[in-house]
Amino acid sequence: MSTSEASLRDSAALQAIYYAAGIAFLALAKLKYLTQGYLTPKVVGADDVAGCVSYDRRIAQIFLQHVDVQGKRVLELGPGSDLGVGILLVQAGARGYVGVDRNPLVSERSAAVHAALGGVVEGVRYEVVPDFQFAAKLGQGEFDVIVSNAAFEHFDDVPDVARQLATVVKPGGKLSVHIDLKTHSRWIRDKDPANIYRYPGWLYRLFYFPGQPNRLRPADYRRAFTAAGWKNVRTSPVDRTSRVGTVHGAFDPSDMDQMTVLLEADR
Ligand SMILES: C[S@@+](CC[C@H](N)C(=O)[O-])C[C@H]1O[C@@H](n2cnc3c(N)ncnc32)[C@H](O)[C@@H]1O
Repeated sequence: MSTSEASLRDSAALQAIYYAAGIAFLALAKLKYLTQGYLTPKVVGADDVAGCVSYDRRIAQIFLQHVDVQGKRVLELGPGSDLGVGILLVQAGARGYVGVDRNPLVSERSAAVHAALGGVVEGVRYEVVPDFQFAAKLGQGEFDVIVSNAAFEHFDDVPDVARQLATVVKPGGKLSVHIDLKTHSRWIRDKDPANIYRYPGWLYRLFYFPGQPNRLRPADYRRAFTAAGWKNVRTSPVDRTSRVGTVHGAFDPSDMDQMTVLLEADR
């Protein structure tokens, strides 16, 4: 057998291993959700105060690179296990900050992170909205800027979120959100970042739980926001992979290397 035949066989064998392993990880993620609920909001554990503080500083810095928050009212969707980003944005000059989540992840355990960042100042608010119908709670035209990191890929109904955001933001408001399109389960996400895109819809849905990555691609986000009346809707790749492999026919392979994207739009 020639070297290229052998490496082809090895790579086909590897793809088959990742395919099977991915199904096991999908099952594990669902089992974890069923037994323990929504657990892992950050790559850093909620008890790692120094890790959370530096993570929050990094995310706030990323937001500030893309939007001007001076004197602005900021809405963050899916802030995760603490309000550190909100504290930092208000310290950077935002007039107010509301973090909205479906899951009540901010608790007494977040206090040490908040204290390390100077404490939850006036103007920082947290809203938990279990059905994620947040627009009714927030009111019309209340925000100038919408930010989010690694949360949109978990939303069950992105077109609905885009419509709700169109009502809570004021005309001229800006949206700047980072979306993590990569496979989320540890180990496999590094070996095979596009793993979740290998499966047909029916198989992926067997392992559905609220918060399971929705597998929407950049074009789906652009479509949803354009349809909701947002202007100048665009996505740009932030992180790419060279290990795409073969994805299911339902997905366009041409931009499958995009593993993190920045979605921006104007109201
Ligand atoms: C991976 S965490 C990201 C947290 C934080 N923004 C960060 O950068 O680490 C995902 C966020 O989306 C929220 N989320 C998960 N599933 C959701 C769903 N089905 N609907 C709305 N929000 C959801 C979580 O509660 C959490 O705040």
